[in-house]
Amino acid sequence: MPALQTDILHGDCLEILKEFPDEHFDLVFTSPPYADRRKNTYGGTKPEHYVEWFLPRAAEFQRVLKKTGSFVLNIKEKAEDGERHTFVIELIIALRKQGWLWTEEYIWHKRNCHPGKWPNRFRDAWERCLHFTRERHFKMNQEAVMVPMGDWKEKRLKTLGKNDTVRFQSQVGSGFGKNIANWKDREMAFPSNVLHLATECGNKSHSAAFPKALPEWFIKLFTDPGDWVLDPFVGSGTTCVAAQELGRNSVGIDIKHDFSELAETEVESASLAMFDKATKQNGYSKKNK
Ligand SMILES: C[S@@+](CC[C@H](N)C(=O)[O-])C[C@H]1O[C@@H](n2cnc3c(N)ncnc32)[C@H](O)[C@@H]1O
Repeated sequence: MPALQTDILHGDCLEILKEFPDEHFDLVFTSPPYADRRKNTYGGTKPEHYVEWFLPRAAEFQRVLKKTGSFVLNIKEKAEDGERHTFVIELIIALRKQGWLWTEEYIWHKRNCHPGKWPNRFRDAWERCLHFTRERHFKMNQEAVMVPMGDWKEKRLKTLGKNDTVRFQSQVGSGFGKNIANWKDREMAFPSNVLHLATECGNKSHSAAFPKALPEWFIKLFTDPGDWVLDPFVGSGTTCVAAQELGRNSVGIDIKHDFSELAETEVESASLAMFDKATKQNGYSKKNK
């Protein structure tokens, strides 16, 4: 099997990606700088200009993504002056016009978000993971993210009603009926589109790092070992570390030198840890032969 490649590049992803061939990547997974009027960290594009800033970059993501690939965008609009901004909704519409299919919206439920009080809303406990594809048929390894039946098996599936034991055609006429009884004796089920993950991440040196479990889940779902993953706004390198640990090649890009250096350090220490683990396992199995 060829050696894994993890490349961290420094610069604006719009420029750097021009050096890549068409249809090179299997997954683009990223959390871009969020629109913010006040903040000036990493450029902080204003919400009113976010779509025009994002679109040329999204066109490059589309060009370098394979037709069977996926683009997952982790993003969340802030509330300002008492209401939510609509720039994410505008972005979804603009991306569809650019030719993307808005295939799904996953929700990252932040299990341990900070408490707080606001006069007209409650605390933010979720972020969007918008899933776009180039085609209706794309790579999706649903079995790779199956979850134990757990509670369903113990509670809901023990008391099945009449409606549950016959197959119901989907009310929207999609042809996919449900037959809950089919799942009765199974140990594993497909997950929902809500991911319950803690916000913690090992990396405290980047203010906006997401937990490694987030890219891990999507990498398992939308790629195979040996495939190529791109994070064009890589920050501290979380996506590339996850890709490397899962045996996928990856490219991460960041416009800030401090962050691209940080990402390189993170990738290197993760690769050393993997090497260490493999050596120990190897030594252990040789000793036990
Ligand atoms: C939300 S952070 C990503 C954090 C990352 N997911 C992690 O786990 O560390 C967004 C990153 O995009 C970078 N960035 C902003 N504009 C960029 C651009 N045009 N090209 C490449 N990177 C950019 C910022 O420097 C920042 O590190």
